[in-house]
Amino acid sequence: MSESDAAGIEGARAASGDRPFGILIVDDEPAILESLEMTLGADYRVHTAGSGEAGLEILLREEIALVIADQVMPNMSGVEFLEKAIDVNPHAVRMMLTGYADIGSLARAINEGRIYRYISKPWEPDEVRLNVKRALEAHALATENVQLAAALSDANERLRAENVYLRREVERRYGFDQILGESPQMMRVFEVMEKVAQTDATVLITGETGTGKDLVARAIHYAGSRKGQRFVAQNCAALPDTLLESELFGHKRGAFTGAHADKKGLFEVAHRGTIFLDEVGETQPGMQVRLLRVLQDGEIRLLGASDTRTVDVRVIAATNRDLKKDVEDDRFREDLYYRLRVVEVHIPPLRERRGDIPILAHHFLDKSNEKMGRTLRGFTNAAMDALCAHPWSGNVRELENEIERCVALAGDSDTVSVEMFSDEVRGKRGAPAEATVVPADLPLSEAVDALKRRMIEAAIAATGSKTQAAQKLGIPRQSLQKMMKRLEMSDGG
Ligand SMILES: Nc1ncnc2c1ncn2[C@@H]1O[C@H](COP(=O)(O)OP(=O)(O)OP(=O)(O)O)[C@@H](O)[C@H]1O
Ligand SMILES: [Mg+2]
Repeated sequence: MSESDAAGIEGARAASGDRPFGILIVDDEPAILESLEMTLGADYRVHTAGSGEAGLEILLREEIALVIADQVMPNMSGVEFLEKAIDVNPHAVRMMLTGYADIGSLARAINEGRIYRYISKPWEPDEVRLNVKRALEAHALATENVQLAAALSDANERLRAENVYLRREVERRYGFDQILGESPQMMRVFEVMEKVAQTDATVLITGETGTGKDLVARAIHYAGSRKGQRFVAQNCAALPDTLLESELFGHKRGAFTGAHADKKGLFEVAHRGTIFLDEVGETQPGMQVRLLRVLQDGEIRLLGASDTRTVDVRVIAATNRDLKKDVEDDRFREDLYYRLRVVEVHIPPLRERRGDIPILAHHFLDKSNEKMGRTLRGFTNAAMDALCAHPWSGNVRELENEIERCVALAGDSDTVSVEMFSDEVRGKRGAPAEATVVPADLPLSEAVDALKRRMIEAAIAATGSKTQAAQKLGIPRQSLQKMMKRLEMSDGG
Protein backbone atom coordinates (compact mmCIF):
# COMPACT_ATOMS: atom_id res chain seq x y z
CA MET A 1 0.00 0.00 0.00
CA SER A 2 1.47 3.37 -1.01
CA GLU A 3 1.61 6.30 1.37
CA SER A 4 -0.98 8.26 -0.53
CA ASP A 5 -3.45 5.29 -0.40
CA ALA A 6 -3.10 5.11 3.38
CA ALA A 7 -3.74 8.83 3.71
CA GLY A 8 -6.84 8.41 1.50
CA ILE A 9 -8.27 5.68 3.73
CA GLU A 10 -7.61 7.68 6.89
CA GLY A 11 -9.33 10.65 5.28
CA ALA A 12 -12.36 8.56 4.36
CA ARG A 13 -12.67 7.20 7.91
CA ALA A 14 -12.43 10.62 9.47
CA ALA A 15 -15.05 11.87 7.06
CA SER A 16 -17.45 9.04 7.91
CA GLY A 17 -17.06 9.76 11.63
CA ASP A 18 -17.87 13.41 10.96
CA ARG A 19 -20.94 12.67 8.89
CA PRO A 20 -23.79 12.51 11.33
CA PHE A 21 -26.51 13.22 8.76
CA GLY A 22 -27.94 10.83 6.21
CA ILE A 23 -29.27 12.18 2.90
CA LEU A 24 -31.51 10.33 0.48
CA ILE A 25 -31.51 11.34 -3.20
CA VAL A 26 -34.25 10.03 -5.47
CA ASP A 27 -34.03 10.51 -9.23
CA ASP A 28 -34.64 8.30 -12.24
CA GLU A 29 -31.56 9.69 -14.01
CA PRO A 30 -28.37 7.91 -12.83
CA ALA A 31 -26.20 10.82 -13.96
CA ILE A 32 -27.96 13.21 -11.64
CA LEU A 33 -27.72 10.79 -8.70
CA GLU A 34 -24.00 10.44 -9.35
CA SER A 35 -23.41 14.13 -9.64
CA LEU A 36 -25.32 15.01 -6.45
CA GLU A 37 -23.57 12.20 -4.59
CA MET A 38 -20.27 13.77 -5.57
CA THR A 39 -21.41 17.17 -4.44
CA LEU A 40 -22.62 15.99 -1.02
CA GLY A 41 -20.79 12.69 -0.36
CA ALA A 42 -17.83 14.26 1.42
CA ASP A 43 -19.97 15.80 4.14
CA TYR A 44 -22.96 13.46 4.40
CA ARG A 45 -23.89 9.80 4.29
CA VAL A 46 -25.55 9.78 0.89
CA HIS A 47 -28.07 7.10 -0.19
CA THR A 48 -29.45 7.04 -3.72
CA ALA A 49 -32.57 5.54 -5.25
CA GLY A 50 -33.75 5.38 -8.88
CA SER A 51 -37.46 5.53 -8.05
CA GLY A 52 -39.87 6.70 -5.37
CA GLU A 53 -40.61 3.09 -4.35
CA ALA A 54 -36.92 2.32 -3.80
CA GLY A 55 -36.56 5.62 -1.97
CA LEU A 56 -39.33 4.77 0.50
CA GLU A 57 -37.61 1.47 1.29
CA ILE A 58 -34.38 3.25 2.12
CA LEU A 59 -36.28 5.78 4.18
CA LEU A 60 -37.71 2.93 6.24
CA ARG A 61 -34.31 1.32 6.88
CA GLU A 62 -31.91 4.21 7.25
CA GLU A 63 -31.67 7.21 9.44
CA ILE A 64 -32.32 10.03 7.01
CA ALA A 65 -32.28 13.71 7.88
CA LEU A 66 -32.88 15.15 4.44
CA VAL A 67 -34.55 13.94 1.24
CA ILE A 68 -33.99 15.36 -2.24
CA ALA A 69 -36.41 14.13 -4.89
CA ASP A 70 -36.68 14.87 -8.58
CA GLN A 71 -39.97 16.45 -9.47
CA VAL A 72 -40.62 14.40 -12.59
CA MET A 73 -40.21 10.60 -12.36
CA PRO A 74 -42.03 7.84 -14.33
CA ASN A 75 -44.14 5.95 -11.72
CA MET A 76 -44.32 8.09 -8.65
CA SER A 77 -43.85 11.83 -9.07
CA GLY A 78 -41.57 13.77 -6.73
CA VAL A 79 -44.52 15.41 -5.00
CA GLU A 80 -46.20 12.04 -4.47
CA PHE A 81 -42.99 10.54 -3.14
CA LEU A 82 -42.39 13.40 -0.69
CA GLU A 83 -45.98 13.11 0.47
CA LYS A 84 -45.45 9.45 1.33
CA ALA A 85 -42.06 10.27 2.86
CA ILE A 86 -43.87 12.40 5.43
CA ASP A 87 -45.64 9.28 6.71
CA VAL A 88 -42.46 7.24 6.92
CA ASN A 89 -40.19 9.91 8.38
CA PRO A 90 -42.00 13.13 9.25
CA HIS A 91 -38.86 14.76 10.64
CA ALA A 92 -36.67 14.59 7.53
CA VAL A 93 -36.26 17.86 5.62
CA ARG A 94 -37.72 17.60 2.13
CA MET A 95 -36.21 19.26 -0.97
CA MET A 96 -37.29 19.08 -4.59
CA LEU A 97 -35.16 18.99 -7.73
CA THR A 98 -36.95 20.70 -10.52
CA GLY A 99 -35.96 20.95 -14.16
CA TYR A 100 -38.70 22.95 -15.70
CA ALA A 101 -41.25 25.12 -14.14
CA ASP A 102 -44.43 23.38 -13.10
CA ILE A 103 -44.56 26.26 -10.68
CA GLY A 104 -48.16 25.60 -9.67
CA SER A 105 -47.71 22.21 -8.02
CA LEU A 106 -44.29 23.17 -6.68
CA ALA A 107 -45.53 26.36 -5.06
CA ARG A 108 -48.48 24.49 -3.53
CA ALA A 109 -46.15 21.89 -2.05
CA ILE A 110 -43.94 24.58 -0.60
CA ASN A 111 -46.83 26.60 0.74
CA GLU A 112 -48.39 23.60 2.39
CA GLY A 113 -45.15 22.98 4.20
CA ARG A 114 -44.45 19.70 2.49
CA ILE A 115 -41.25 20.97 0.89
CA TYR A 116 -38.59 23.02 2.58
CA ARG A 117 -36.90 24.35 -0.57
CA TYR A 118 -36.34 23.48 -4.22
CA ILE A 119 -33.15 23.15 -6.22
CA SER A 120 -33.44 24.07 -9.86
CA LYS A 121 -31.53 22.25 -12.56
CA PRO A 122 -28.81 22.91 -13.50
CA TRP A 123 -27.34 23.70 -10.12
CA GLU A 124 -24.15 25.16 -8.72
CA PRO A 125 -22.52 22.56 -6.43
CA ASP A 126 -21.59 25.21 -3.86
CA GLU A 127 -25.10 26.53 -3.78
CA VAL A 128 -26.52 23.04 -3.24
CA ARG A 129 -24.04 22.40 -0.42
CA LEU A 130 -24.97 25.68 1.22
CA ASN A 131 -28.71 25.05 0.91
CA VAL A 132 -28.40 21.54 2.33
CA LYS A 133 -26.25 22.79 5.18
CA ARG A 134 -28.76 25.49 6.13
CA ALA A 135 -31.65 23.09 5.86
CA LEU A 136 -29.97 20.59 8.14
CA GLU A 137 -29.11 23.28 10.68
CA ALA A 138 -32.74 24.30 10.78
CA HIS A 139 -33.66 20.63 11.03
CA ALA A 140 -31.27 20.08 13.95
CA LEU A 141 -32.71 23.06 15.79
CA ALA A 142 -36.24 21.93 15.16
CA THR A 143 -35.42 18.40 16.37
CA GLU A 144 -33.75 19.80 19.45
CA ASN A 145 -36.81 21.94 20.08
CA VAL A 146 -39.07 18.92 19.86
CA GLN A 147 -36.84 17.02 22.25
CA LEU A 148 -36.62 19.92 24.69
CA ALA A 149 -40.36 20.44 24.58
CA ALA A 150 -40.89 16.76 25.29
CA ALA A 151 -38.39 16.84 28.14
CA LEU A 152 -40.04 19.96 29.51
CA SER A 153 -43.51 18.51 29.39
CA ASP A 154 -42.09 15.38 31.02
CA ALA A 155 -40.50 17.45 33.76
CA ASN A 156 -43.73 19.40 34.24
CA GLU A 157 -45.65 16.18 34.55
CA ARG A 158 -43.23 14.91 37.16
CA LEU A 159 -43.35 18.22 39.04
CA ARG A 160 -47.12 18.12 39.05
CA ALA A 161 -47.09 14.59 40.43
CA GLU A 162 -44.51 15.59 43.00
CA ASN A 163 -46.62 18.59 44.02
CA VAL A 164 -49.65 16.43 44.54
CA TYR A 165 -47.54 14.07 46.60
CA LEU A 166 -46.00 16.88 48.69
CA ARG A 167 -49.38 18.48 49.28
CA ARG A 168 -50.78 15.17 50.52
CA GLU A 169 -47.68 14.72 52.65
CA VAL A 170 -48.11 18.18 54.19
CA GLU A 171 -51.80 17.59 54.78
CA ARG A 172 -50.97 14.27 56.39
CA ARG A 173 -48.24 15.73 58.55
CA TYR A 174 -50.43 18.54 59.78
CA GLY A 175 -53.62 16.52 59.97
CA PHE A 176 -55.82 16.15 62.99
CA ASP A 177 -54.56 12.62 63.47
CA GLN A 178 -51.09 13.95 64.28
CA ILE A 179 -52.52 15.57 67.38
CA LEU A 180 -52.79 12.87 69.98
CA GLY A 181 -55.05 12.91 72.98
CA GLU A 182 -57.79 10.82 74.48
CA SER A 183 -58.66 12.91 77.51
CA PRO A 184 -62.12 14.48 77.63
CA GLN A 185 -60.41 17.89 77.50
CA MET A 186 -58.70 17.08 74.20
CA MET A 187 -61.89 15.57 72.82
CA ARG A 188 -63.51 18.95 73.35
CA VAL A 189 -60.57 20.65 71.64
CA PHE A 190 -60.94 18.35 68.60
CA GLU A 191 -64.65 19.04 68.45
CA VAL A 192 -64.18 22.80 68.32
CA MET A 193 -61.31 22.45 65.83
CA GLU A 194 -63.40 20.38 63.49
CA LYS A 195 -66.24 22.85 63.51
CA VAL A 196 -64.08 25.92 63.12
CA ALA A 197 -61.98 24.39 60.33
CA GLN A 198 -65.02 24.45 58.06
CA THR A 199 -65.41 28.20 58.54
CA ASP A 200 -63.36 31.33 57.90
CA ALA A 201 -63.77 32.53 61.47
CA THR A 202 -60.80 34.08 63.22
CA VAL A 203 -59.46 31.72 65.85
CA LEU A 204 -57.52 32.46 69.00
CA ILE A 205 -55.60 29.47 70.29
CA THR A 206 -54.62 29.76 73.91
CA GLY A 207 -52.51 27.52 76.07
CA GLU A 208 -49.23 27.38 77.91
CA THR A 209 -45.98 26.91 76.08
CA GLY A 210 -45.60 23.49 74.47
CA THR A 211 -49.26 22.53 74.55
CA GLY A 212 -49.48 22.19 70.78
CA LYS A 213 -50.81 25.58 69.62
CA ASP A 214 -48.70 25.47 66.46
CA LEU A 215 -49.91 21.99 65.66
CA VAL A 216 -53.54 22.98 66.16
CA ALA A 217 -53.21 26.11 64.00
CA ARG A 218 -51.83 24.12 61.06
CA ALA A 219 -54.36 21.35 61.47
CA ILE A 220 -57.20 23.88 61.30
CA HIS A 221 -55.77 25.35 58.10
CA TYR A 222 -55.14 21.99 56.42
CA ALA A 223 -58.59 20.68 57.31
CA GLY A 224 -60.39 23.67 55.80
CA SER A 225 -61.21 24.92 52.34
CA ARG A 226 -58.05 27.06 52.22
CA LYS A 227 -55.74 24.07 52.45
CA GLY A 228 -54.64 24.46 48.83
CA GLN A 229 -53.42 27.97 49.59
CA ARG A 230 -50.60 29.10 51.77
CA PHE A 231 -50.24 28.88 55.50
CA VAL A 232 -47.76 31.50 56.69
CA ALA A 233 -46.68 31.86 60.28
CA GLN A 234 -45.12 34.80 62.04
CA ASN A 235 -43.95 34.87 65.61
CA CYS A 236 -44.90 38.35 66.80
CA ALA A 237 -42.45 38.21 69.70
CA ALA A 238 -39.46 37.48 67.52
CA LEU A 239 -39.05 40.93 65.93
CA PRO A 240 -38.88 44.52 67.09
CA ASP A 241 -41.98 46.54 66.18
CA THR A 242 -40.92 48.23 62.93
CA LEU A 243 -39.47 45.05 61.51
CA LEU A 244 -42.57 43.10 62.45
CA GLU A 245 -44.72 45.71 60.79
CA SER A 246 -42.74 45.53 57.57
CA GLU A 247 -42.74 41.74 57.74
CA LEU A 248 -46.52 41.53 58.09
CA PHE A 249 -47.64 44.46 55.96
CA GLY A 250 -44.71 44.97 53.61
CA HIS A 251 -43.04 48.25 52.79
CA LYS A 252 -42.36 50.66 49.96
CA ARG A 253 -38.84 51.36 48.86
CA GLY A 254 -37.31 54.04 51.07
CA ALA A 255 -39.93 53.66 53.83
CA PHE A 256 -37.07 53.44 56.30
CA THR A 257 -33.29 53.20 56.25
CA GLY A 258 -32.40 49.89 54.66
CA ALA A 259 -35.65 49.55 52.69
CA HIS A 260 -33.89 49.31 49.33
CA ALA A 261 -36.82 47.85 47.43
CA ASP A 262 -40.57 47.30 47.74
CA LYS A 263 -41.36 44.24 49.81
CA LYS A 264 -44.54 42.20 50.02
CA GLY A 265 -45.87 41.58 53.49
CA LEU A 266 -47.01 38.22 54.82
CA PHE A 267 -50.65 39.30 54.72
CA GLU A 268 -50.31 39.61 50.96
CA VAL A 269 -48.28 36.42 50.67
CA ALA A 270 -51.06 34.61 52.53
CA HIS A 271 -53.78 36.02 50.25
CA ARG A 272 -56.62 33.44 50.04
CA GLY A 273 -54.76 31.35 52.61
CA THR A 274 -54.15 31.57 56.32
CA ILE A 275 -51.84 33.69 58.41
CA PHE A 276 -50.80 32.42 61.82
CA LEU A 277 -49.93 35.19 64.26
CA ASP A 278 -48.04 33.39 66.98
CA GLU A 279 -47.51 35.06 70.36
CA VAL A 280 -49.92 37.80 69.37
CA GLY A 281 -50.03 38.87 73.03
CA GLU A 282 -46.53 40.32 72.68
CA THR A 283 -47.52 42.95 70.10
CA GLN A 284 -47.13 46.66 70.86
CA PRO A 285 -50.06 49.13 70.80
CA GLY A 286 -49.22 50.49 67.30
CA MET A 287 -49.19 47.01 65.86
CA GLN A 288 -52.42 46.16 67.63
CA VAL A 289 -54.14 49.04 65.83
CA ARG A 290 -52.89 47.81 62.47
CA LEU A 291 -54.01 44.27 63.18
CA LEU A 292 -57.42 45.56 64.16
CA ARG A 293 -57.73 47.30 60.80
CA VAL A 294 -56.99 44.12 58.82
CA LEU A 295 -59.43 42.13 60.89
CA GLN A 296 -62.15 44.75 60.52
CA ASP A 297 -61.79 45.74 56.87
CA GLY A 298 -59.40 43.22 55.34
CA GLU A 299 -57.22 46.19 54.45
CA ILE A 300 -53.50 46.57 54.75
CA ARG A 301 -51.24 49.54 54.16
CA LEU A 302 -47.62 49.01 53.24
CA LEU A 303 -45.12 50.94 55.33
CA GLY A 304 -44.42 54.19 53.51
CA ALA A 305 -47.46 53.86 51.22
CA SER A 306 -50.46 56.17 51.16
CA ASP A 307 -52.98 53.77 49.65
CA THR A 308 -54.42 50.58 51.09
CA ARG A 309 -54.81 47.12 49.62
CA THR A 310 -57.45 44.54 50.27
CA VAL A 311 -56.51 41.00 51.22
CA ASP A 312 -58.52 37.85 51.81
CA VAL A 313 -56.75 36.14 54.65
CA ARG A 314 -57.94 33.89 57.40
CA VAL A 315 -56.34 34.80 60.71
CA ILE A 316 -55.39 32.30 63.36
CA ALA A 317 -53.63 33.75 66.39
CA ALA A 318 -52.04 32.12 69.38
CA THR A 319 -50.81 33.22 72.74
CA ASN A 320 -49.54 31.67 75.93
CA ARG A 321 -50.49 34.81 77.87
CA ASP A 322 -53.70 35.44 79.70
CA LEU A 323 -54.96 37.98 77.17
CA LYS A 324 -58.09 38.72 79.12
CA LYS A 325 -55.97 39.82 82.02
CA ASP A 326 -53.76 41.85 79.67
CA VAL A 327 -56.91 43.63 78.51
CA GLU A 328 -57.83 44.40 82.10
CA ASP A 329 -54.29 45.68 82.71
CA ASP A 330 -54.48 47.85 79.57
CA ARG A 331 -51.67 45.90 77.94
CA PHE A 332 -53.85 44.65 75.11
CA ARG A 333 -56.63 46.38 73.17
CA GLU A 334 -60.02 45.11 74.12
CA ASP A 335 -61.49 45.54 70.61
CA LEU A 336 -58.64 43.55 69.11
CA TYR A 337 -59.06 40.86 71.74
CA TYR A 338 -62.68 40.34 70.76
CA ARG A 339 -61.86 40.43 67.04
CA LEU A 340 -59.25 37.71 67.52
CA ARG A 341 -61.31 35.64 69.87
CA VAL A 342 -64.26 35.00 67.58
CA VAL A 343 -63.64 31.38 68.41
CA GLU A 344 -61.25 30.39 71.16
CA VAL A 345 -59.53 27.04 71.20
CA HIS A 346 -58.05 26.56 74.62
CA ILE A 347 -55.56 23.73 75.01
CA PRO A 348 -55.29 22.77 78.66
CA PRO A 349 -51.84 22.21 80.16
CA LEU A 350 -50.66 18.61 80.21
CA ARG A 351 -50.85 18.39 84.01
CA GLU A 352 -54.61 18.96 83.76
CA ARG A 353 -55.06 16.08 81.36
CA ARG A 354 -52.66 13.47 82.61
CA GLY A 355 -54.70 10.83 80.84
CA ASP A 356 -52.95 11.91 77.63
CA ILE A 357 -49.46 11.25 78.98
CA PRO A 358 -49.21 7.49 78.20
CA ILE A 359 -50.31 7.77 74.58
CA LEU A 360 -48.03 10.79 74.03
CA ALA A 361 -45.11 9.06 75.75
CA HIS A 362 -45.45 6.00 73.51
CA HIS A 363 -45.80 8.19 70.43
CA PHE A 364 -42.60 10.09 71.22
CA LEU A 365 -40.81 6.84 72.04
CA ASP A 366 -41.68 5.48 68.59
CA LYS A 367 -40.64 8.74 66.97
CA SER A 368 -37.28 8.85 68.79
CA ASN A 369 -36.64 5.16 68.12
CA GLU A 370 -37.09 5.77 64.45
CA LYS A 371 -35.04 8.95 64.44
CA MET A 372 -32.12 7.38 66.30
CA GLY A 373 -32.35 3.84 64.99
CA ARG A 374 -33.16 2.38 68.42
CA THR A 375 -35.66 -0.29 69.39
CA LEU A 376 -36.75 0.58 72.94
CA ARG A 377 -39.96 -1.35 73.54
CA GLY A 378 -41.71 0.66 76.24
CA PHE A 379 -41.66 1.96 79.81
CA THR A 380 -41.43 0.18 83.14
CA ASN A 381 -44.48 0.73 85.35
CA ALA A 382 -42.47 2.93 87.67
CA ALA A 383 -41.25 5.01 84.74
CA MET A 384 -44.77 5.56 83.44
CA ASP A 385 -45.88 6.49 86.96
CA ALA A 386 -43.08 9.07 87.15
CA LEU A 387 -44.10 10.53 83.79
CA CYS A 388 -47.71 10.77 84.88
CA ALA A 389 -46.76 12.44 88.17
CA HIS A 390 -44.42 15.10 86.78
CA PRO A 391 -45.91 18.63 86.55
CA TRP A 392 -44.65 19.22 82.94
CA SER A 393 -44.44 22.99 83.07
CA GLY A 394 -43.09 22.81 79.50
CA ASN A 395 -46.06 20.61 78.61
CA VAL A 396 -45.97 18.25 75.61
CA ARG A 397 -42.73 19.76 74.33
CA GLU A 398 -40.99 19.00 77.61
CA LEU A 399 -42.32 15.44 77.53
CA GLU A 400 -41.09 15.03 73.97
CA ASN A 401 -37.62 16.33 74.88
CA GLU A 402 -37.44 14.13 77.96
CA ILE A 403 -38.18 11.00 75.98
CA GLU A 404 -35.86 11.90 73.16
CA ARG A 405 -33.10 12.40 75.71
CA CYS A 406 -33.81 8.99 77.28
CA VAL A 407 -33.65 7.24 73.94
CA ALA A 408 -30.41 9.01 73.06
CA LEU A 409 -28.79 7.92 76.33
CA ALA A 410 -30.41 4.48 76.56
CA GLY A 411 -27.29 2.45 75.76
CA ASP A 412 -28.40 -1.17 75.32
CA SER A 413 -31.44 -1.10 77.60
CA ASP A 414 -34.59 -2.20 75.85
CA THR A 415 -37.08 -0.52 78.21
CA VAL A 416 -37.24 2.99 79.60
CA SER A 417 -36.81 2.91 83.37
CA VAL A 418 -36.95 5.65 86.00
CA GLU A 419 -33.15 5.87 86.32
CA MET A 420 -32.96 7.04 82.71
CA PHE A 421 -35.02 10.15 83.36
CA SER A 422 -33.54 13.55 84.10
CA ASP A 423 -33.25 14.60 87.75
CA GLU A 424 -36.23 16.88 87.26
CA VAL A 425 -38.59 14.13 86.17
CA ARG A 426 -37.24 11.83 88.88
CA GLY A 427 -38.12 14.63 91.29
CA LYS A 428 -34.56 15.16 92.48
CA ARG A 429 -33.76 18.70 91.49
CA GLY A 430 -35.32 21.92 90.36
CA ALA A 431 -38.64 21.08 92.02
CA PRO A 432 -40.67 24.26 92.47
CA ALA A 433 -40.49 24.04 96.31
CA GLU A 434 -36.70 24.22 96.18
CA ALA A 435 -36.59 27.04 93.65
CA THR A 436 -38.92 29.23 95.61
CA VAL A 437 -36.90 29.20 98.82
CA VAL A 438 -35.36 32.67 99.03
CA PRO A 439 -33.96 34.45 102.06
CA ALA A 440 -36.90 36.16 103.73
CA ASP A 441 -34.86 39.04 105.03
CA LEU A 442 -34.11 40.53 101.60
CA PRO A 443 -35.99 43.58 100.26
CA LEU A 444 -38.80 42.43 97.96
CA SER A 445 -37.16 43.49 94.67
CA GLU A 446 -33.94 41.67 95.52
CA ALA A 447 -35.80 38.59 96.63
CA VAL A 448 -37.70 38.60 93.35
CA ASP A 449 -34.44 38.92 91.43
CA ALA A 450 -32.93 36.05 93.36
CA LEU A 451 -35.95 33.93 92.58
CA LYS A 452 -35.74 34.88 88.91
CA ARG A 453 -32.06 33.90 88.82
CA ARG A 454 -32.80 30.49 90.30
CA MET A 455 -35.73 29.83 87.98
CA ILE A 456 -33.71 30.82 84.94
CA GLU A 457 -30.77 28.67 86.03
CA ALA A 458 -33.09 25.73 86.62
CA ALA A 459 -34.83 26.18 83.28
CA ILE A 460 -31.54 26.36 81.37
CA ALA A 461 -30.20 23.34 83.21
CA ALA A 462 -33.37 21.39 82.49
CA THR A 463 -33.71 22.26 78.82
CA GLY A 464 -30.11 22.81 77.81
CA SER A 465 -30.86 25.86 75.68
CA LYS A 466 -31.91 29.43 76.26
CA THR A 467 -34.59 29.27 73.60
CA GLN A 468 -36.26 26.33 75.28
CA ALA A 469 -35.65 27.77 78.73
CA ALA A 470 -37.50 30.91 77.63
CA GLN A 471 -40.38 28.75 76.38
CA LYS A 472 -40.45 26.85 79.63
CA LEU A 473 -40.56 30.09 81.56
CA GLY A 474 -43.27 31.40 79.29
CA ILE A 475 -41.38 34.48 78.11
CA PRO A 476 -39.95 35.46 74.73
CA ARG A 477 -36.31 34.60 74.25
CA GLN A 478 -35.46 38.27 73.82
CA SER A 479 -36.92 39.04 77.22
CA LEU A 480 -34.94 36.22 78.79
CA GLN A 481 -31.78 37.58 77.25
CA LYS A 482 -32.51 41.07 78.57
CA MET A 483 -33.44 39.75 81.98
CA MET A 484 -30.24 37.72 82.25
CA LYS A 485 -28.21 40.77 81.35
CA ARG A 486 -29.95 42.87 83.95
CA LEU A 487 -29.54 40.17 86.58
CA GLU A 488 -25.86 40.01 85.64
CA MET A 489 -26.07 36.32 84.89
CA SER A 490 -23.29 34.77 82.80
CA ASP A 491 -24.28 33.98 79.26
CA GLY A 492 -22.82 30.50 79.44
CA GLY A 493 -23.92 29.74 75.82
N1 LIG B 1 -51.38 16.59 71.23
C1 LIG B 1 -50.18 16.44 70.70
N2 LIG B 1 -49.89 15.31 70.02
C2 LIG B 1 -48.67 15.13 69.47
N3 LIG B 1 -47.68 16.02 69.56
C3 LIG B 1 -47.90 17.15 70.23
C4 LIG B 1 -49.15 17.43 70.82
N4 LIG B 1 -49.09 18.64 71.42
C5 LIG B 1 -47.86 19.10 71.21
N5 LIG B 1 -47.12 18.22 70.50
C6 LIG B 1 -45.72 18.38 70.11
O1 LIG B 1 -45.10 19.15 71.11
C7 LIG B 1 -44.22 20.11 70.55
C8 LIG B 1 -44.66 21.50 70.93
O2 LIG B 1 -45.88 21.82 70.28
P1 LIG B 1 -46.16 23.27 69.68
O3 LIG B 1 -44.91 23.82 69.09
O4 LIG B 1 -47.34 23.16 68.81
O5 LIG B 1 -46.49 24.03 71.03
P2 LIG B 1 -46.90 25.56 71.22
O6 LIG B 1 -48.11 25.55 72.06
O7 LIG B 1 -46.96 26.23 69.92
O8 LIG B 1 -45.69 26.09 72.08
P3 LIG B 1 -45.14 27.62 72.22
O9 LIG B 1 -46.15 28.40 73.01
O10 LIG B 1 -43.87 27.44 72.98
O11 LIG B 1 -44.94 28.12 70.84
C9 LIG B 1 -44.24 19.87 69.07
O12 LIG B 1 -43.16 19.03 68.73
C10 LIG B 1 -45.54 19.17 68.84
O13 LIG B 1 -45.45 18.35 67.71
MG1 LIG C 1 -45.80 27.74 69.10
